[in-house]
Amino acid sequence: MGSGQTVVVFGAYGHTGRFMVAELVERGFVPVLVGRDADKLRTFAQAHPGLEARQASADDAASLDRALAGAAAVINAAGPFHATGGPVIEAALRAGIPYLDVAAEIEANLDTFAHFADRAREAGTVVLPAMAFYGGLGDLLATAAMGDWTTADEVRIAYGLSSWHPTTGTLASGAVSSERRGGRRLRYTAGRLQQHDDALPTLQWSFPAPLGPQPVIGEFTMADVVTVPSHLAVPEVRTYMSAVAAADLAAPGAAAPTPVDERGRSAQTFVVDVRVRNADAERRAVASGQDIYAVSAPLAVEALTRILTGRTRLSSGVASAGALFDAPDFLRALAAHVKVELPT
Ligand SMILES: NC(=O)c1ccc[n+]([C@@H]2O[C@H](COP(=O)([O-])OP(=O)(O)OC[C@H]3O[C@@H](n4cnc5c(N)ncnc54)[C@H](OP(=O)(O)O)[C@@H]3O)[C@@H](O)[C@H]2O)c1
Repeated sequence: MGSGQTVVVFGAYGHTGRFMVAELVERGFVPVLVGRDADKLRTFAQAHPGLEARQASADDAASLDRALAGAAAVINAAGPFHATGGPVIEAALRAGIPYLDVAAEIEANLDTFAHFADRAREAGTVVLPAMAFYGGLGDLLATAAMGDWTTADEVRIAYGLSSWHPTTGTLASGAVSSERRGGRRLRYTAGRLQQHDDALPTLQWSFPAPLGPQPVIGEFTMADVVTVPSHLAVPEVRTYMSAVAAADLAAPGAAAPTPVDERGRSAQTFVVDVRVRNADAERRAVASGQDIYAVSAPLAVEALTRILTGRTRLSSGVASAGALFDAPDFLRALAAHVKVELPT
């Protein structure tokens, strides 16, 4: 459980930020509500009496310093991260506190590793990008599936989502990412990220029961192509998306998620099926649960708890979830939120 430590949530009144705030409270932390819009922040804070709200903008370093003052860590849930990642990491380094974000923007994730690895080590603090459903969960599953293998030929991560009603932030981040790569597509092959313009194939993926075989879009490249190869020696990392979810995401005027339970979760369900191949041998790790946005909160707050209590493999630098934590132990700790099947 948390220890009454204060944790800044940048983007607190966003869809994902709200789940972060609720999870932090549930785990005994004291969230500090931070966002750029004073009116939205005030309205959100009124619904959370007792929690402090501090207005701050990514383009105003002094406001970020005020926002982070006295906090034990910061979670950045405000995307597009192209705009917020660098400034909030800079503020975390100045404050000397750990930084986590939920960025699923491949270019922003790459920037974090490229620009802050040395600086985070020098500052003696941890910077953890993509600590969420995309980028974080798949990396933990791939790491757990690897087990004692030090290399593998291929990691495949298939996302079996029942639907995908995206938030404004998701759509904006997708647009920024696409613009940054000139509208081209990405794949991770032969040990590096490559741009291409090929049409994406539709394939059949055999998810475990009860989901079973489903059409998926191949090379639907997600943040796992940054996090997994950041620490695992695997030349091929491929991600697949259920065709139904890809169609939802691409639909003009795609509807936002609708809460259906007391936690504010939508009815969306997910299965993340990770298969690691080494020559003829395959190892598999699977996670399933409800609502990809909501589940990002227990993922991030579990990570935060481990960082603040020293249960990490590294004490400083930029690292993905799989590199930082004991992956099987971390995944088992999520039992209240995610059903996990790991190789024995
Ligand atoms: N990796 C994953 O699996 C995962 C999971 C969940 C979310 N995400 C990512 O997290 C981000 C937020 O998602 P969401 O669902 O919370 O979207 P959302 O409900 O639209 O909220 C976005 C939040 O970001 C803030 N924001 C946007 N640009 C900002 C800027 N330049 N400076 C300060 N604040 C800014 C917004 O504030 P205003 O209202 O003032 O604009 C709002 O609070 C997206 O990039 C999404 O892709 C990733």
